[in-house]
Amino acid sequence: MTDTGDNTLTVRDNRTGKEYQIQISDGAIKAAELGQIKIDEDSPGLSTYDPGFTNTASCRSSVTYIDGEKGILEYRGYPIEQLAEKSSFLEVAYLLIHGALPTKEQYDTWVHEITHHTFLHENVKTFMQGFRYDAHPMGMLMASVGALSTFYPESNNITDADNRHMQIVRMIAKMPTLGAWAFRHAQGKPYVYPDNELSYTENFLAMLFKMSEQKYVADERLVKALDVLFILHADHEQNCSTNAVRSVGSSQVDPYSSVAAGIGALYGPLHGGANEAVLRMLRRIGSKENIPAFIEGVKNGNEKLMGFGHRVYKNYDPRAKIIKKACDDVFEVTGVNPLLEIAQELEKIALEDEYFVKRKLYPNVDFYSGLIYEAFQFPPEMFTVLFAIGRTPGWLAQWLELVQDKDQKIARPKQIYTGDRTLDFVPSSERWAGDAGITPGIS
Ligand SMILES: CC(C)(COP(=O)(O)OP(=O)(O)OC[C@H]1O[C@@H](n2cnc3c(N)ncnc32)[C@H](O)[C@@H]1OP(=O)(O)O)[C@@H](O)C(=O)NCCC(=O)NCCS
Repeated sequence: MTDTGDNTLTVRDNRTGKEYQIQISDGAIKAAELGQIKIDEDSPGLSTYDPGFTNTASCRSSVTYIDGEKGILEYRGYPIEQLAEKSSFLEVAYLLIHGALPTKEQYDTWVHEITHHTFLHENVKTFMQGFRYDAHPMGMLMASVGALSTFYPESNNITDADNRHMQIVRMIAKMPTLGAWAFRHAQGKPYVYPDNELSYTENFLAMLFKMSEQKYVADERLVKALDVLFILHADHEQNCSTNAVRSVGSSQVDPYSSVAAGIGALYGPLHGGANEAVLRMLRRIGSKENIPAFIEGVKNGNEKLMGFGHRVYKNYDPRAKIIKKACDDVFEVTGVNPLLEIAQELEKIALEDEYFVKRKLYPNVDFYSGLIYEAFQFPPEMFTVLFAIGRTPGWLAQWLELVQDKDQKIARPKQIYTGDRTLDFVPSSERWAGDAGITPGIS
């Protein structure tokens, strides 16, 4: 294909008979180019209608690559399988933020920085203690991350690279402290302060579960499994919460406010809540004998097989494969979750069933993650908090890319207006004149 004529799209507007040549780059056209297509000079140009951005690229990004047909997920070019097996969450966080793997010296500095920013200002603790006893931990996390912008007002200087780095370190460091405190709050237990001698994930487990012992020692297998879960959730290109971080960040607000918006998006059941729905479903099925009847119900359209299917993956979600393996390690320590047997049988039957095969429905990341989280004794409300801790480096890598991208503008989608126009306003004194007993302005 030559560079000149062939990399273009010819559009013929049948309303006017005019033809337009539009440049194609990276398999996309610039939507703004369509604006030149008009009926006449006074009419608005053509635009696209794409609720949910199903076929609209909002940015150019080099953070995460997904091939949904083949079931491939890579961070900065590295396959997720290799990262989960051979790396650690903090190394993956470094990779996402900096774009390359660290040298030994860079890694040590990074771990030191993160470890020494895990503490929170005492007023954050007071703020969190002000929530009701039954506050959802995700609501607490969202509010507390937003509140951090008031503790670090300099964070709005987003053009300064050192300042940006400082806030990125702070946020990755403090997220487990906030998440653990939100967890302890619901249980009426005292908040546990970070322990700088522990690794990132060990420290998180200690802040969650430490009671009166001098030192909390977590089982290595549990530490590794949770670290892997964080890695698997660390980024997933332009999903709903990342889009929220980018959209809010495009106003050039500080990164705490942007990430708080991402947490808000993740809080929603369509995004972060599917693993909880999987547990509910497995409990309802109750035993292996009930699976065929359940599958029949799914095929008849009565309900969905939760934890199956994905907007992007039309193959086995690579993260689900890794989680399935992690299940074995966790259950070795905690004892097998009795729901696992039902899940495995359900998966086996579904993967052989014509209905699921034809629609390319495979287990996604949520099919097994809830089972593991439950084995850790996390209540379902904590599942999305764990997701948010893992996703923080990804949100920040995407935010960093956004603020350095010259192509980016403040997010401002177009709309297709469908309401009334040029109505004449009638004052309430006239509109309500006939309404018995109602005096305008007094209610
Ligand atoms: C993830 C999800 C929202 C993706 O939806 P989507 O890309 O819009 O796919 P569609 O809803 O168009 O599904 C295509 C077909 O598969 C069916 N399908 C999709 N997911 C299904 C599921 N989990 N169980 C049964 N059928 C399913 C749809 O009914 C549709 O069938 P049809 O062609 O006969 O109408 C969807 O698969 C789903 O709801 N899964 C369950 C929830 C879940 O696990 N979410 C976590 C995602 S990480």
